[in-house]
Amino acid sequence: MEFELQLVEKITENESIIYLVENKDALRHCKLGKEEKHYVIEKYRDDEKHFFAFNRLAYYQIIIFAKTRGSIHDRFEFMRKEGDKTATFLGRNKQQSVTIKGINISQAMTAAFAEGLILGNYRFDHYKTGKKPDSLNTIRITANSFTAEGFNELKALMEAVYHCRDLVNAPFQELQATEFAKRISDFCRPLGVKAEILNKSQIASLKMAGLIAVNKGSSNEPAFTRLEWCPQDRKNQKPIILVGKGIVFDTGGLSLKPPSAMEDMKSDMAGGAAVFAAIYAIAKTKLPVYVIGLIPATDNQPGNNALAPGDIITMSNNVNVEVINTDAEGRLILADALIYASKFDPSLVIDIATLTGSATRAIGKYGIVAVESNARKQMSTLKKAGDEVYERIAQFPFWDEYDKEIESEIADIRNIGKSINAGAITAAKFLSRFISYPWIHLDIAGMAFMEKKESYPGSGASGVGVRLLYNFVKKMANG
Ligand code: BES
Ligand code: MG
Ligand code: ZN
Repeated sequence: MEFELQLVEKITENESIIYLVENKDALRHCKLGKEEKHYVIEKYRDDEKHFFAFNRLAYYQIIIFAKTRGSIHDRFEFMRKEGDKTATFLGRNKQQSVTIKGINISQAMTAAFAEGLILGNYRFDHYKTGKKPDSLNTIRITANSFTAEGFNELKALMEAVYHCRDLVNAPFQELQATEFAKRISDFCRPLGVKAEILNKSQIASLKMAGLIAVNKGSSNEPAFTRLEWCPQDRKNQKPIILVGKGIVFDTGGLSLKPPSAMEDMKSDMAGGAAVFAAIYAIAKTKLPVYVIGLIPATDNQPGNNALAPGDIITMSNNVNVEVINTDAEGRLILADALIYASKFDPSLVIDIATLTGSATRAIGKYGIVAVESNARKQMSTLKKAGDEVYERIAQFPFWDEYDKEIESEIADIRNIGKSINAGAITAAKFLSRFISYPWIHLDIAGMAFMEKKESYPGSGASGVGVRLLYNFVKKMANG
């Protein structure tokens, strides 16, 4: 889906306008009658009402009070949610464009509101014929509340999240691995990102045994995409590497999923899409950071020559993996990418994946399960980045005792834990057998795909990880 975002000098006449304010003094800059103003002041004071809309026949005049108490993160999130509510209100009332004007309020607060409005306004509707669901098509922000730089960043980031959601929402029938690789490369190349797609024979010659094994039951080719953003003015010599799981559809393979668990499995490339989209935003805003994205992609199918439970595969670091369950496929393809990453001598590798149902069972849809190895400081920066964008990190224990869970009787390791407990952790333990650098693992299974809309994450793909990774890399650029 596309949207139009503009930075404007003046308010457009006869068009809906949203005033963002922090206190009643700001109301004198809003075009309100005396009685209206009284009403607003009273309701805000007595009923803690924050949202006011006045019907001006063909358009609306909206006033939103920011939250002035609570933690800064909660206050930003409040604004995003108000943005989402406003998008719903304007859509329902057939408004196609709106201008946002902040009055004595910080640019960051205005940006949070705009984010909620834009993300809440997202629709995946190109398969709908006839009348499309109501939504805004043009959003303007007045220059008094925004710098050009801030505006460009907001625009790049929102575009990135839209691209990510479009990819994750795209049905498997439309987006096989090679198509996925092609689309993300095509989006990136015009921005000066070097994009290389490895095909099946290149993947085989690199001995990416995990990706080859998972792809065996499929009649579609796998693809491994490498995105490189290496600007002249980079602050870091060793790259930060982002690795994203790109399972374009997960049937479970021969360890077939039941229908209800398979329904949303077109979204099993959400980690890969987030890595692409974060790099898209990084390149679009020209962050001075050397970043590489690695995205192994295939579907996981129970076809003809499929990988079978009990098969043992030899990874390119010579670790033999006994595949107990072919539905634990994400870790197999991520392992290849993690081994491959070491070639670049990275300062940090972050992988992001819809890896386990266990992560969802542990913390639901409100956070990202994470573990870290040799990257304590970076993890604390990532948590800060997550709190700011409200893609929050829940760090799990990573004790040595869990290693026992993936010991194999006949090979080096098994691809699932022996007990059903702590599945998100044992999955991470598996991955840790393939790293040789500071590392952070993110399991986004709970947040990537929403059953129903609650607020700006919407229904379907949420685009989780894009704002988080972008904000993290930006922090790394600033030292
Ligand atoms: N893609 C799934 C994990 C998943 C489940 C993501 C639900 C999003 C929503 C992954 O490949 C998988 O199937 N994991 C198995 C692992 C198990 C076999 C150890 C799982 O979590 O059930
Ligand atoms: Mg699976
Ligand atoms: Zn999967």
